[in-house]
Amino acid sequence: MLKSTPDHNPELKLGAKFGSTLSAALITAAILIGTGLPALAGVIEDRKANFKANNGHMRAIGGAIGSGDFDLIKSRAGKIAEWAAVMPDYFPEGSLGSDSSAKPEIWEAFDEFKAAAQDNHDAAMAVIAAAEAKNGDDVGAALQALGASCKACHQKFKAW
Ligand code: HEC
Repeated sequence: MLKSTPDHNPELKLGAKFGSTLSAALITAAILIGTGLPALAGVIEDRKANFKANNGHMRAIGGAIGSGDFDLIKSRAGKIAEWAAVMPDYFPEGSLGSDSSAKPEIWEAFDEFKAAAQDNHDAAMAVIAAAEAKNGDDVGAALQALGASCKACHQKFKAW
């Protein structure tokens, strides 16, 4: 049986919870109004530059397999891994616009987005491991898996 003491009054609890949610929302709004707009524009530019660099790293790794330049492979795969590790931080809620191909699904399933970035990171680390073993065939296979991890995220979270 529900007793109507203040401690057990579901309406009172709801009220308190709503109040704290509301003040958290107000604080967030204040932060966004203070610094949000230029920061959002900058973050889209920054992440696009990092993704463009990724394309260059992928091509460089592909070329270095033939020449057996395993140090270059390690350093370029390291750059991809580093970017993957911080990638979700470059997707603050609402950082969308005509200059961005990010899909709103990112924020509807942010855990999934983070998991896709983690997969990308792990795939880049596997390329490094293959390069450390100086095995060109393994690097090739790991590079393909890395490319697949880029594509998997794009298919779900990138519009064009
Ligand atoms: C976890 C998700 C995710 C992973 C992993 C990922 N991307 Fe992306 N990528 C995106 C999203 C989202 C955008 C759109 C960013 C925007 O326009 O705001 C994007 C954009 C791009 C762009 C276009 C940049 C531009 O100038 O518009 C390129 C190129 C790209 N990614 C390459 C790659 C490559 C190569 C990899 C793998 C090594 C990769 N991405 C891994 C999500 C991902």
